[in-house]
Amino acid sequence: MSSEEIRKKFLAFFKERGHTIVSSSSLIPDDPSVLLTTAGMQQFKKYYTGEADPMKDFGSKNTASIQKSFRTSDIDEVGDESHLTFFEMLGNFSFGYKPGEPVSPKGGYFKKGAITYAHDFITKEMGLAIDYVSVFEGGDGVPADTESEEIWKSLGVKSIKKFGRTDNFWGPTGNEGPCGPTTEIYINGVEIWNIVFNEYYCKNGKLEKLKTPGVDTGMGLERLVMVSQEKNNIFETDLLQPIMHSIIEIQGDKPIGQIRLIVDHLRAAVFLISDGVLPGKEGRGYIPRRLLRRALTAHYLDVGAGPDKNFFQNPVSIIIDIYKHFYPDLLNNGDRMMSIMQDEVEKYSKILTGTVADLKKLYSRFIGGVDPERLLPNVVVKNNVADIDGSILFRIRETHGVDFEVMKMVMEKWGFSFSERTEKEFDEAYQKHQEKSRAGLEKKFGGHGLILDTGELKAGDEEELKKVTRLHTATHLMQQALRNILGNEVHQAGSDITAERTRFDFTYHRKLTPEEIKKIETEVNEVIARDMPVHFKEMPIEEAKKTGALYFFKEKYPDPVNVYYVGKTIEDAYSKEFCGGPHVTHTREIGRFRILKEEAVGAGVRRIRASVD
Ligand code: SER
Repeated sequence: MSSEEIRKKFLAFFKERGHTIVSSSSLIPDDPSVLLTTAGMQQFKKYYTGEADPMKDFGSKNTASIQKSFRTSDIDEVGDESHLTFFEMLGNFSFGYKPGEPVSPKGGYFKKGAITYAHDFITKEMGLAIDYVSVFEGGDGVPADTESEEIWKSLGVKSIKKFGRTDNFWGPTGNEGPCGPTTEIYINGVEIWNIVFNEYYCKNGKLEKLKTPGVDTGMGLERLVMVSQEKNNIFETDLLQPIMHSIIEIQGDKPIGQIRLIVDHLRAAVFLISDGVLPGKEGRGYIPRRLLRRALTAHYLDVGAGPDKNFFQNPVSIIIDIYKHFYPDLLNNGDRMMSIMQDEVEKYSKILTGTVADLKKLYSRFIGGVDPERLLPNVVVKNNVADIDGSILFRIRETHGVDFEVMKMVMEKWGFSFSERTEKEFDEAYQKHQEKSRAGLEKKFGGHGLILDTGELKAGDEEELKKVTRLHTATHLMQQALRNILGNEVHQAGSDITAERTRFDFTYHRKLTPEEIKKIETEVNEVIARDMPVHFKEMPIEEAKKTGALYFFKEKYPDPVNVYYVGKTIEDAYSKEFCGGPHVTHTREIGRFRILKEEAVGAGVRRIRASVD
């Protein structure tokens, strides 16, 4: 079945069942708590809370849409089988259900209606077999969802898994909004459809019952098309394959991960720019800039013959062609979009060329004076560590205005990763540079030196700083949970926090099991739910060590040190660490903690990426 047929089928299915079809809202949301639209329910928030009347606006309590969505949280995963930054979400929504009300086309519905619709759409309309479903097992004061379990059983679904807050509880977007337990449908092991029962309103981590519960469902179009077209990955579907081909034509078919990255990033940039998110230095604008820069870097590194400033034109025309019927704005904005991209790519080509020239000089130190580009593609240097003075990298950044992650991509292509010392010194040089402009903000955040990375965060971008602060405290809680669950063998081996995620390296001798990962997440979320206070105390370093506070042995701490602790007193604190801050004042401010990935980074060193939402 083509993706076009699938779109039509979805909308027709819900239209026949009394839903009003609503167009996708812009990627720039009305909702000020988030930078971009990340879910279909965002444009409907006020109908869940009762602030607006769906009967008046839609003539029905039920709507359905195909929503343009964008999430940066998965950007590091793009290149694998199923992750994207931009995607489309098929969703049906119901507002103002009265408990006990039978399912009727224009009336509200809840668990029975939502699950039956989803089951019928997947099995009868799409002819797909459900692998298994998951339901909420209860936790943090929210009861287990036995009702959904019974409904699935009555529909003949036998494989039902149960998970807690991390997997089967959704929302809110940003700091507050509707949220609730979920039930998810899996096909061939891939999560296809997330059905949320919005029973609560969450504000700063506190849940309050909504007057009338609602339904919010989201199904990734690209993933549904993938299973329906029996493909192994989203990039082989009719939505993405033509774009893949256009990139392969330019630079051959390897490495596949980089080609997928270019496909994803160009497509996302097209949709963002078309919705008015113009490439720029700060906030939202930084996102299309970063996507285009990463795409051009990947392109340049793989053709190896200098960046072609026009390389994006054919792929972008193909993207517009695929989507113009559903999003006519793409066509209307086509010329403007091309010229914005052209400007951006031209500016960036200069930056990249200068950066690569400087990095080459550094590189030759490690490989005995050889030009790295001459070596390619025959010489593969793997897993070498470039232990460079980080302030040299900072100078390259200042000279060319390039991001740290781009320098990393270039060096990785040549077989090197930067050493921890290099990254740390880069951060220090960056921080020193930012100190002045940041002084005001630090006061506001109660901070004593922010841990930032990559030069992406600009002083003044308060939303991002708040996110970094939440992730920073979450990282302390995670380290303690790791030690509680895995034992005191766990020690910090590095960390890196951006507005999107925390990356924490620690010593441990083996891979973590899914059960252990779950336990760690649950423990962190429990501490968050207890809303424990976070304080710090300045102490002489030796005295601080005696409190049992953790510290990173590679770090040099100025005496006296600040010990940040989570709990009422330093003696009975859940977590205590030497740290410069900043941190939240109470753990609930962190929001929901989620582990995204656990992997090895070296012998006896593991890495966890985690986010908060
Ligand atoms: N809001 C939920 C999600 O984004 C379901 O639509 O997954």
